[in-house]
Amino acid sequence: MTIFLTPNPKMTTNIGYGSKITFQAISVLIFFFLLHPPNHLAFDSNNEPWLTTIEPEPTPTPWPEQFHALLYMNLTSTHLQLSDLWYDWPNGRNVNIFQKQLGELLYDIEWNNGTSFYYTFGADAECQIYDFGVGIPRPDFLDGAQYLGRVVTDGFLCDLWEKVDFIWYYEDVVTRRPVRWDFYDGISSHVMTFEIGAVLPDSVAQAPAYCFTEPGDKNGFSTLYVVWDFQRIKPHPKPSLDE
Ligand SMILES: *[C@@H]1O[C@H](CO)[C@@H](O)[C@H](O)[C@H]1NC(C)=O
Ligand SMILES: *[C@@H]1O[C@H](CO)[C@@H](O)[C@H](O)[C@H]1NC(C)=O
Repeated sequence: MTIFLTPNPKMTTNIGYGSKITFQAISVLIFFFLLHPPNHLAFDSNNEPWLTTIEPEPTPTPWPEQFHALLYMNLTSTHLQLSDLWYDWPNGRNVNIFQKQLGELLYDIEWNNGTSFYYTFGADAECQIYDFGVGIPRPDFLDGAQYLGRVVTDGFLCDLWEKVDFIWYYEDVVTRRPVRWDFYDGISSHVMTFEIGAVLPDSVAQAPAYCFTEPGDKNGFSTLYVVWDFQRIKPHPKPSLDE
């Protein structure tokens, strides 16, 4: 029997602490800004002096309906991982294949009907199934995000938006590709490749048969982290196996 549970709704609102961590991370960007000061722009001297304001305010580019991106992720808990992200809106799935540094290869298959599968292969293979009650991010999930300004990150001049204290999203000014996004809990993702139109074969996105037949492991996947909910713009809690 696989574990199938719904997150505790009481845990959905405590997002303040993580956003502070994220702002600390962003503050190191002051240094890069000082190295590359845009010469035609004034400082926004309010809360984020490293950001420059742009008029009129740009809007984020919607995600392509299908793309593949290789992400370098810093989980801040001294752990790093790569992710093969296969976003596929027409097929209603968002796939992350995580290579944890010198660790396991973890598949995370998120379906638009709210079900997510997490599984590994090999001798210690394990599988868990969650029902998050919400679908995958829409291509326009950044609509309504607050524009914060222009800043250099990862060596790219980017526009930066923030949405509901949940995500900080950096888009390259020139190519309008995503460069980086940070979640409220401090996890940062850096976009290394971005292939528009690339599609993961259905066979790879299909959870293995043992997910449907064997017991789940209650001790597995301790590093599972936030599953985002851009549909209703409300963060999900870290899944808990103790409920
Ligand atoms: C990961 O993030 C933490 C916290 O922002 C930072 O101290 C650390 O240097 C980062 N590690 C790498 C390898 O980027
Ligand atoms: C959601 O879709 C996936 C893939 O088709 C399926 O395996 C899963 O059972 C579905 N979940 C629900 C709750 O219908």
